[in-house]
Amino acid sequence: MTDLPKPRGPLSVAVLGALRDLPTAPVPRIEEAPESDDDAALTLWVLHELSYGGFDGVDEAAESEPELVRVRGMLERRLEADLRSRWPGVPDVDLASGFFDWVAGHDGPSIARHVQTSATREQVLDLMRMRSVYHLKEADPTMWVIPRLPVSAKAALVELQYDEYGAGDPSRLHSHLFAQGMAASGLRPERGVYVDEAPFEVLDQNNALSMFGLQGRLRGAAVGHLAAFEATSSMPSRRMAQGLERLGFPEELIGYYTEHVEADAVHEQVALRDVCVALVREEPALEPDVWFGAWACLDLEVRAARRILGAWGAAA
Ligand SMILES: [Fe+2]
Ligand SMILES: [Fe+2]
Repeated sequence: MTDLPKPRGPLSVAVLGALRDLPTAPVPRIEEAPESDDDAALTLWVLHELSYGGFDGVDEAAESEPELVRVRGMLERRLEADLRSRWPGVPDVDLASGFFDWVAGHDGPSIARHVQTSATREQVLDLMRMRSVYHLKEADPTMWVIPRLPVSAKAALVELQYDEYGAGDPSRLHSHLFAQGMAASGLRPERGVYVDEAPFEVLDQNNALSMFGLQGRLRGAAVGHLAAFEATSSMPSRRMAQGLERLGFPEELIGYYTEHVEADAVHEQVALRDVCVALVREEPALEPDVWFGAWACLDLEVRAARRILGAWGAAA
C-alpha cells in the first residue's frame, strides 16, 4: 500500500478528498468534470488502484462505493471513447498468420533503442520511476480476464501467467524482480510512490490495461493488448539490458530485462496462438476488439515514448 498521489485538477481534488474522508463522511455527489487529461488519468488510476493494493489510510470499502464506481465508469467511457475515436479499425490481416508482421509495421519511437545507445544514467532512473507504475504490478491486470475466457484460451493464459508469477518461486515473480532491480539502483520499490512523476500518457497505459481487464465485455481487447505487449517486449528488453550494462546498472535490474528476452519470445506465441486465436475461434464476434486492444497497446506506448523522449530532448 502507498500514499495517495497529488491531485491534478478539480476532479482529482474531489475524489482524493472523498477517499480521505471515508468512512467517517459519506462520499458526496461528485459533480466536477475532468479539467485536463492529467486530471482524468490520475483520477482513474487512483480509482483502479483501489482494486489492487489500495492506499494507506483509505477505507478498503471505497472500492465498491457507488459514487466512486460511477466516476470510474464515467472516466473509463471517456478513455475508451478517446481510444476508439483514434483507432484506424480492423486491419485487413489474418490474425493467426499476419499479427506479428502487423505489430512489426508499427515502428514508433523506441525508448529501448535510446537507452541502448545514448541515454544518461539520470534518464534511465527517470524511466524506471515511470515504468514502475506498471512493472510493480506486472501481470496483475491480466488476471481479471481469466474467468471470462473459454476453456482452451483460459488454460493457455493461466500457463503464461504462471510464468509471470515466478512459476511457484516468489523470488522469480516478474514484478518482484523489478522491485529488486529498483532497490538495487537506489530507487524505492513500493508500488505507486512515483506516480506523481508519471505524465498522463504513462497513467493511461495503466488505465487502459486495468479497464480491459476489469470489464468483461472488453475481454477481447484485454487479450489483444497482451499479445501486442508480449510481441514488443523481447527485442526491446535486450536493448534495455545492453543499455543498463553500458551505464553500469546493478545486475538485479539488468536481470529483470534479460529474463524477458527469452520469456517473452515464448509468451508472444502463447498469447497470440493459444489465447487470442483460441478465443476468436470460440467467439468470432470478439476479433475486432482483439485488434483494438493490440492497437491500443502500441498506440499508448508510442504516445508515452514521445512524451518521455521529448522531455529528455531526445530524438523521437
Ligand atoms: Fe513479465
Ligand atoms: Fe511476458
